[in-house]
Amino acid sequence: MTRTLKLDGIAFGGDYNPEQWPREVWEEDVRLMRRAGVNFITVSVFSWPLLEPEEGRFDFGWLDDVIELLHSNGIAVDLATATATPPAWLIRKFPEILPVTADGTHLEFGSRQAYCFSSPIFREYALRLTRAMAERYGQHPAVRLWHVSNEYGDHVSRCWCAASAEHFRGWLRAKYTSIGALNEAWGTSCWGQHYLDFEAIEPPRDSTGPINSTQRLDFERFSSDAMLELFTAEVAVLREVTPELPVTTNFMSILHDLDYFAFADAEDIVTDDAYPDPADPRAHIDASLNYALMRGAKDGAPWLLLEQSASAVSWRDVNVPKAPGVMRLDSYQALAHGADGVMYFQWRAAKFGPEKFHAAILGHRGEASRTFQECSALGAELKGLGALKGSRVVADVAMLLDWDSKWALAAPDSLPSNRLSWIGQARDWHRATFNLGVTVDLVRAGADWARYKVLMVPNLYLATPALAARLEAFAEAGGTVVVGAFSGVVDQNDHVYDGGAPGPLRPLLGVEVDEVWPLPDGDTGHIMMDGARHGFHTVSEWLDAADAQTVASYCGGELDGRPAVTVRRQGDGAAWYVSGCLADDGLRTLVRRILDESGVPVRTGAGPEIEVVVRRGVESSFTFVLNRSAVAVPVSLPDGADVLVGDSRQVSARGVLVVRHEHEAIVRVAADSAQLQAV
Ligand code: GAL
Ligand code: ZN
Repeated sequence: MTRTLKLDGIAFGGDYNPEQWPREVWEEDVRLMRRAGVNFITVSVFSWPLLEPEEGRFDFGWLDDVIELLHSNGIAVDLATATATPPAWLIRKFPEILPVTADGTHLEFGSRQAYCFSSPIFREYALRLTRAMAERYGQHPAVRLWHVSNEYGDHVSRCWCAASAEHFRGWLRAKYTSIGALNEAWGTSCWGQHYLDFEAIEPPRDSTGPINSTQRLDFERFSSDAMLELFTAEVAVLREVTPELPVTTNFMSILHDLDYFAFADAEDIVTDDAYPDPADPRAHIDASLNYALMRGAKDGAPWLLLEQSASAVSWRDVNVPKAPGVMRLDSYQALAHGADGVMYFQWRAAKFGPEKFHAAILGHRGEASRTFQECSALGAELKGLGALKGSRVVADVAMLLDWDSKWALAAPDSLPSNRLSWIGQARDWHRATFNLGVTVDLVRAGADWARYKVLMVPNLYLATPALAARLEAFAEAGGTVVVGAFSGVVDQNDHVYDGGAPGPLRPLLGVEVDEVWPLPDGDTGHIMMDGARHGFHTVSEWLDAADAQTVASYCGGELDGRPAVTVRRQGDGAAWYVSGCLADDGLRTLVRRILDESGVPVRTGAGPEIEVVVRRGVESSFTFVLNRSAVAVPVSLPDGADVLVGDSRQVSARGVLVVRHEHEAIVRVAADSAQLQAV
């Protein structure tokens, strides 16, 4: 059954915490919400202690009033199950639900999310509350979406307590059946770690030295599964009581420890919380990669930006505000990348607590605050963009994200370099495509890749033969595969493949890696490609390219003259191998060549500060041009184009253009690259 969010227009609103305010303020809140164009509000995220003030006694009166007030003002509700933070009475009664860190420290009550996701006690109480919420509000016409918990794993994504240990052992028993199979998979003959039975196994707590990397990898997999189990248990209650209502849980962007593909399968709508750092000139480029994941998590389906800040946050060392226009640009960026809504944390700036200096739609200054002015102006604009809803981003290029491999490559002190990471390589490659104006989707190993021309695999340290076979089939069918350094190294148990890397990717790539040559911190080396020298960083490899053509070679250093970048062509397809982490200029040159050869058009005029993204609807397409530069950028629109936001001749400095046009028509951007800055 497909459950969709029933809401008129683009979702616009945010988290609302009326429990922090006297009732007189609520009236003012809804009045100003209407003025700001708000149509969707999230409530009760952290309200458990108010909703169940004593064990088993529920007090819904105040929330009834809040929901009624919103409803009578035409505002729909994203209702949290309120299970994100257990009340003090529950913790004092069962202190064992508090989480424990790897060094054995018990985390105390006093912040939020102070629970172990494996605790059967926590689960029982959380499910009881979920059921009570569903029974109370499931039929209320204002309630359109279930918001389960809040940002799973935000503060506690791994727990080493006794309940977690027991849960982990159960997970291992189910996976391995016999202790012999576990000993083999974990390679316990190394360092005398042999186990006689499952009872002897503990989660990988701080130890005397480096931890068994397969044990660690299994603990990563287990922790994600354990949190997913808690999520699906709540979802099951909601489905039972309110089978028609869609369910979500808000993700925390790309840099998180949970397998969001698995979570997305368990929910109806993907929602994300994104807090690009205004002090980081590249934050919008990384945000674009993050949104690629939100699309990819449900095969391109529209998603919602459920939280962003109207300006500064309160949790960085230094919390820089968003300059005028930046919040608007950030919001349109999410829409450009397939979001059907733009929401904030939070509606009204807090007066107390750790988030009192976090920006909100309604700042401390009230209606006069800059954030209120900017947000209301955006709210008014979004009213005219309902046609966007349901349209999807079209991309020719995909990038593979595999959580197993990402986790495996994060094992400290057991790799050639602790500096290797999936995200490091992915960001470099994504930045190269971004700067060429090419949109990338993030996809999972099991997705249907057929609609893409190029599949980038920035790193696949852990590669299964089955995935290698899918990559081969993609190339054989005419696709281009690009694989980054240190891939195909280990199997699903984190054991090195016989013959070394790239293991099962060898037939595809036609190369063999003899040895990995990481670079000391801060060092760079060079490659020679088409007669030009380019830099690389972090890692290089001693490579033999017996069955592939060498496209670039190392230049200088111990690897001088050896292959650095190779390609193996098969039929119409090709498989590239990039054995070092190329610096921006070289990567851009290489990616440009790969895209050209694969028939993927780059977009002239786009660049680090000018992003162009297209969403395709049923009848027409929508082009977004986001200009983060300090100068206006001329554009030329196709015949019959309909400007929804902005100006038909140029996109002003820090401005936005949204144009509706026929599917194949192209919006041309005539940016003068000399005037634009590199970031
Ligand atoms: C999110 C969280 C919100 C709020 C916000 C502040 O992680 O879900 O409740 O704390 O951060 O940026
Ligand atoms: Zn625990």
